[in-house]
Amino acid sequence: MKILRYITITAALFLITFSNAQDPIKISVQEEADAPIVSKHIYGHFAEHLGRCIYEGLYVGEENKIIPNTEGVRNDIIAALKELGIPNLRWPGGCFADTYHWKDGVGPQEDRPTIVNRWWGGTTEDNSFGTHNFLNLCEVLEAEPYLSANVGSGTVQELIDWVQYTNHDGISPMADWRRENGREEPWKVKYWGVGNETWGCGGNMTAEYYADIYRQYATFMPGWSGETEVYRIASGASEDDYHWTETLMKNVPHELMEAVALHDYAVFDWSDKGPSVNFDEEIYFKTMEQALNMEEYVTKHIEIMDKYDPDGKVDLFVDEWGGWYDAEPEVANGVLFQQNTIRDVMIAGTVLNTFNNHARRVKMANLAQMVNVLQAVILTDEEKMIKTPTYHVMHMYKVHHDAKLLPSKVEDNIEYRGLPVVSVSASKDEAGKVHISLVNIDPEKDVEVEVDISTLEIKKIEGNILTSEKLQDHNSFDNPEKVTPKEFKDVKLKKGKISLTIPAHSLIVLQGS
Ligand code: AHR
Repeated sequence: MKILRYITITAALFLITFSNAQDPIKISVQEEADAPIVSKHIYGHFAEHLGRCIYEGLYVGEENKIIPNTEGVRNDIIAALKELGIPNLRWPGGCFADTYHWKDGVGPQEDRPTIVNRWWGGTTEDNSFGTHNFLNLCEVLEAEPYLSANVGSGTVQELIDWVQYTNHDGISPMADWRRENGREEPWKVKYWGVGNETWGCGGNMTAEYYADIYRQYATFMPGWSGETEVYRIASGASEDDYHWTETLMKNVPHELMEAVALHDYAVFDWSDKGPSVNFDEEIYFKTMEQALNMEEYVTKHIEIMDKYDPDGKVDLFVDEWGGWYDAEPEVANGVLFQQNTIRDVMIAGTVLNTFNNHARRVKMANLAQMVNVLQAVILTDEEKMIKTPTYHVMHMYKVHHDAKLLPSKVEDNIEYRGLPVVSVSASKDEAGKVHISLVNIDPEKDVEVEVDISTLEIKKIEGNILTSEKLQDHNSFDNPEKVTPKEFKDVKLKKGKISLTIPAHSLIVLQGS
């Protein structure tokens, strides 16, 4: 009897153990003839006159003999951005844009007035970094410039003068002034933002009022001499403000508007955003909850756009996104300098997967911000410069630039406190290589996945992983290589199925050929 009971208990324990074991999560990746191209512009950046993003960050001034620079821009940053292949750069704001008068930033330095940065700490700037510096930098980086124009405190004339200054190659007052200031050829700027956050710092307007103002500005923004196609971007909604998008789509004739913007930061409480490094699991969860909202916001804004624009003429630009925490305690008010950890890897990986998967309508996105501000890819301290974990995500995801989306699906996702654990997106590049980016946001548990790629012709699979022991791990000026991508070998390909275990809080990019 005793033996029988022992066998029964052992068998029951055996069953419990095995019924608790998680089956691999099934993911499918397929090719679809009419799938969209993942625009490289989804991997765009944003540099505002804010804290140490421009001054003491990107730009150290031509007179600086200690930090090697090109026209005042740090050479180490130029090299790092080139390696990233940044496709576009948005400037000069942000909130700063609606206080900025571009004419104050061209011509001889001694004639330039100062500007008080009223939104960001009230610092007085000397306008030494202006239109020429920015557009020349974009040329060096081979990135498309995206100029964010002043609607809140500017005029229609000021904006059309800026377009003429940068784009006109004939004889005109502004083109002549550009030549006087040392630049013969126009830069041919394509992307123009018509105001920024006009519901807030850009003028506290209602959607209806802004739609009318937008129509007025956009009317006077053609290309000059027919050479440059000007791409006008309407200042868009924040998060789930669907009324804003609906009003723009309804009230603005679509031939006046090439894109509508959307801003969404991963912030769980604007009055107490939590620390950038010393956060606990509860804060991590709340941040990820916000970051994953991007999927819902993008889906619903697109639904509205589809209703008014079924042919997809107007694009969606998420021209500000990223994690936003309390600034590091040592920095002054309004500087927004924060560290960047594995939590930021989780935000970037999941949000970029969302953008890739919605590539049909999402044609541009701009991570906020590029240097020393919010979820930066680069941090500087005097002559030192480091690449953050988010830099490495952007570098790993570079494979998706202008590749064709491969629609993917997580069939039976599991949850971490109600949030989907695994995120995926995939694409096929011109050479026929398939890339699958996978993120496991669970802070503690590894997850086994099985990716069905049986309809794709893949014979070889390899990959890279970005992770670290703790969620709080980051790169510092003393330890700049703590979080860097490593080769990932634990992946098998058998009978059209890829099997792997994604370690807790990790991001993996697989390459199939
Ligand atoms: O990126 C920081 C600020 O966030 C921008 O200036 C503004 O547009 C947004 O509110």
